[in-house]
Amino acid sequence: MPQGLAVVTGASNGIGLELAKVLATEGYDLIVCAESARLAEAVADLQALGANVTSVTADLATREGVDRLWEQVQAAGRPLDIACINAGVGVGGKFVETDLDEELNLIHLNCGHTVHFAKHVVRQMVPRGAGKILFTASIAGEMVAPREAVYAASKAFVLSFAHSLRYELKDTGVTVTALQPGPTDTDFFHRAGMDDTQAGSEGKQESQPADVARQGYEALLAGKDHVYAANFKTKLEGALANFVPGELKGKMHDDMAKPLAEK
Ligand SMILES: NC(=O)c1ccc[n+]([C@@H]2O[C@H](COP(=O)([O-])OP(=O)(O)OC[C@H]3O[C@@H](n4cnc5c(N)ncnc54)[C@H](OP(=O)(O)O)[C@@H]3O)[C@@H](O)[C@H]2O)c1
Repeated sequence: MPQGLAVVTGASNGIGLELAKVLATEGYDLIVCAESARLAEAVADLQALGANVTSVTADLATREGVDRLWEQVQAAGRPLDIACINAGVGVGGKFVETDLDEELNLIHLNCGHTVHFAKHVVRQMVPRGAGKILFTASIAGEMVAPREAVYAASKAFVLSFAHSLRYELKDTGVTVTALQPGPTDTDFFHRAGMDDTQAGSEGKQESQPADVARQGYEALLAGKDHVYAANFKTKLEGALANFVPGELKGKMHDDMAKPLAEK
């Protein structure tokens, strides 16, 4: 018997793929979504783990894309037990130089799809009085983040949204957990144009997406409000985030996010 039905957005690679693998291993049926054709490879990996997988290729930075994914969730004809709202992108560089269209796309995906998909999910889970939602935020949501200003703001949005929603839903049987990774070894930095930074080279190698996903899943099952993942450094930075002065947080982040050639 399957454990239940879980959906993961941004499941073609990185943290989302690893979340889907954990859920597959734990016996969940899966609905997975990404925009690119590489989703097919992820589906094959998940099926190899024995999972029953439905895949949806959709651009979640658009309203139509989110609605198409939701139509597939409804087509399953059974309740959704877990929603991992994870798809996201970054844009690296100084705001004065970065591309506005890329940043607006980032906002549509990181913030827009999060709110839009959560609306569907919450309206299905709350009347049933059961369900678990995992939002992939970031430790960046609590940082002062030069050279990732719009990205960090989008993750502060996700984090605030997750905490507020958690409070609203506390008596409904639906739990909300924020996953807050530090730099992790995925395509994220390459895609954000940050290969030539400390975070995008050695920094990310200190945390593997499989560890982030496992810790996120365990926090989700335990109904925790958030988890910093995956390594000790990220957990320490998270614990200290409210005590470190903004100027110092800004300097630390600038060092990690500037091109190595500028150091
Ligand atoms: N890696 C880190 O250091 C780090 C740290 C903190 C938080 N995070 C967060 O973790 C989440 C996952 O990122 P990752 O690190 O795993 O990066 P990743 O390897 O680049 O994976 C991103 C996922 O999002 C999907 N995606 C991107 N644009 C999309 C769109 N328009 N519509 C649908 N799917 C889309 C990608 O699918 P396709 O490109 O195949 O369509 C991919 O599956 C993000 O929310 C990110 O902000 C990452």
